[in-house]
Amino acid sequence: MNLKPILFSFLIAAGITTTTAQEISVLKSSLVGNRIAEFIPKGFDKNKTPSLILASEPKAKGKLPSDWSLVPEFTFKNEKASAVLNLKGDVSLYGGGEVTGPLLRNGQSIKLWNTDTGAYSVEGGKRLYQTHPWVMGVRADGSAFGIIFDSTWKAELITNSNQIIYNSEGALFRVYIIDRKSPQEVIKGLSELTGTIKLPPRWALGYHQCRFSYDSEKRVMEIADTFREKKIPCDVIWMDIDYMQGYRVFTFDSIRFKNPKVLNDNLHKKGFRAVYMIDPGVKVDKDYAVYNSGTQSDVWVKQNNGEEYHGKVWPGDCAFPDFTSPKTRNWWGGLYKDFLATGIDGVWNDMNEPAVNDNDFSEDKRLGTMPYDTPHKGGGNLPQGSHLLYHNAYGRLMVEASYNGILKANPSKRPFLLTRSNLLGGQRYAATWTGDNYAGWDHLKLSVPMSLTLGLSGQPFNGPDIGGFLGNTDGDLWANWLGFGAFMPFARGHACAGTNDKEPWAYGAEIEKTSRIALERRYRLLPYLYTLFYESSQTGLPVMAPVFFADAQDSRLRAEEQAFLLGENLLVVPAFAKDPILPSGIWEELSLVDGDKQDKYQAKLSIKGGSIIPAGKIIQNAGENSFDPLSLFVCLDKDGKANGELYVDEGDGFGFQKGDYRLVTFSAEKNNNTVLIKTAGIQGKRNIDKEINKINVHLLLNGKTYEGTGTLKDGITITLN
Ligand code: GLC
Repeated sequence: MNLKPILFSFLIAAGITTTTAQEISVLKSSLVGNRIAEFIPKGFDKNKTPSLILASEPKAKGKLPSDWSLVPEFTFKNEKASAVLNLKGDVSLYGGGEVTGPLLRNGQSIKLWNTDTGAYSVEGGKRLYQTHPWVMGVRADGSAFGIIFDSTWKAELITNSNQIIYNSEGALFRVYIIDRKSPQEVIKGLSELTGTIKLPPRWALGYHQCRFSYDSEKRVMEIADTFREKKIPCDVIWMDIDYMQGYRVFTFDSIRFKNPKVLNDNLHKKGFRAVYMIDPGVKVDKDYAVYNSGTQSDVWVKQNNGEEYHGKVWPGDCAFPDFTSPKTRNWWGGLYKDFLATGIDGVWNDMNEPAVNDNDFSEDKRLGTMPYDTPHKGGGNLPQGSHLLYHNAYGRLMVEASYNGILKANPSKRPFLLTRSNLLGGQRYAATWTGDNYAGWDHLKLSVPMSLTLGLSGQPFNGPDIGGFLGNTDGDLWANWLGFGAFMPFARGHACAGTNDKEPWAYGAEIEKTSRIALERRYRLLPYLYTLFYESSQTGLPVMAPVFFADAQDSRLRAEEQAFLLGENLLVVPAFAKDPILPSGIWEELSLVDGDKQDKYQAKLSIKGGSIIPAGKIIQNAGENSFDPLSLFVCLDKDGKANGELYVDEGDGFGFQKGDYRLVTFSAEKNNNTVLIKTAGIQGKRNIDKEINKINVHLLLNGKTYEGTGTLKDGITITLN
């Protein structure tokens, strides 16, 4: 008789834990997509580890090919499941989502337990606001693989050079492995499993100005007016928590924000959008409609003894919606209707790790969130489970609820939602920023690999608090940060309460001028940026990409984390970069705004040989006509050819899904000493002939610029002499 299992259960029952890990065999492995494999360990139970990462349940499509090399090894010890991948040869590792430290992740480890971590100070920055159990490896030959550990249990992810280790504190989980010919193809595979971002409204790609907090309607309008007076482009002003009545979500301060409708209308008249913050914690207050409605609908997280769980956040004691329940998500989504009816354009979900201020700062007692054993009720596809299982999905479930509620409230508009906490796959619902950084050179530099890593982890729509959130910012730091931050997918300046003013004009005339140039450059590039977002919403490819994407076989580029690519065709080298390692081939430096090349704070921009980049004119907000004229920057490859794309649509709404868009492909070809630039292909039904009357071509060749003018229909010929 085998006594091992009896002994094992005895030890567990007695609270004595084993020290040796039990090996768990793979029960089932199959292909679920093009070179995407699913591994299900024996004993896996969806009721213990539901998937909140995958966009839909994968379907087995056949056996693994005989040459499939990457197979996870599962173990189980003390009720905790782990998986290990043994790697062969030299592999460069990336991913893990929101991380501090280098872009190249060989020899790193992170903790997956979403945490409110001001200045990234908790556990030396190894534990941040989000969870991405995802690693990408790039081999010496440029082929690549990616691994999803499909679990939300508290975990640790270790990326040694020869081994990837994922240790969870919960039940067995499935593993997905994508093995394809390039990193780009692997990222596409990730989006096949977890979905892509939705195409954002065009205004969300403009510059955003935030502060904790612009604390009255008057101050908000002063900020908005100053942007317009000073002709510094900007699209969005953000309302942080002080607009609320005593930090009660879905309310407005009766004195300082007594007329949000008027405020939002006034912002709209000046070409601005308004984004307002909503936190998950709802003040426990018997005279507060949201709290009472939540209690009536039985939506709150309850403790094991059945009492409401209360934790302190900004308003004091708060109850927390149990977002694992579909009924709660519906209730929460419904709160947005009246709120948005005041003319609010976008929503900012914060503190949704969820962060709880437990007022006991001793390391062993301080959880900063709900106790691990707090139950969540589940419902629909989700089982009942503890906070240890659902904590890392709390923000992700909150933004699902918010996204659906916002869409339902305004079905003809594209929701814009920003979240601090999220989970791999949560890009389907919300954009993100990298939380509470501080105003220092180390965080300025760190913001590049952080954003790149999020982009390599399925979340292209992200960026840092430009200028640094915590601490005072000086003009030099601000201008350096904005000089490249203007080319990050989400570009927002933000500042903590008690810190100095951090608007572009707050540092004197010289920095104001340089800030204007940086933002004018972003606005000129909006047509290119919008095209990249469209492509990303189709493929999952990052908008801001590491330079090794230019040539995955060039091993020199694997660790470069100062310079980055915007799409495939534009190289951005921040002013702070020292000896960046740049891709080889033809790259021509680009000027977008008078004086930009001479300005020491501006990032250096170069266009890739073989490409055409569409740009607009300088506008003050994304709602203005950018195409009067359309500019095409052209850089020929060694064969004298180039091509590029421009995506155009209404800028909001869903008409594009019914064909109301135009995707134009441009081509350029050199013949003796002339270059012909023309429309090479079109997709979509939108007629843009009226929108685009005139095209200016800037052909960059061997450091010289050749100009030409024409129309979409006739094409443009440039003579080189
Ligand atoms: C959190 C957010 C920060 C915000 C502040 C006040 O610290 O991360 O961006 O300004 O809360 O709402």
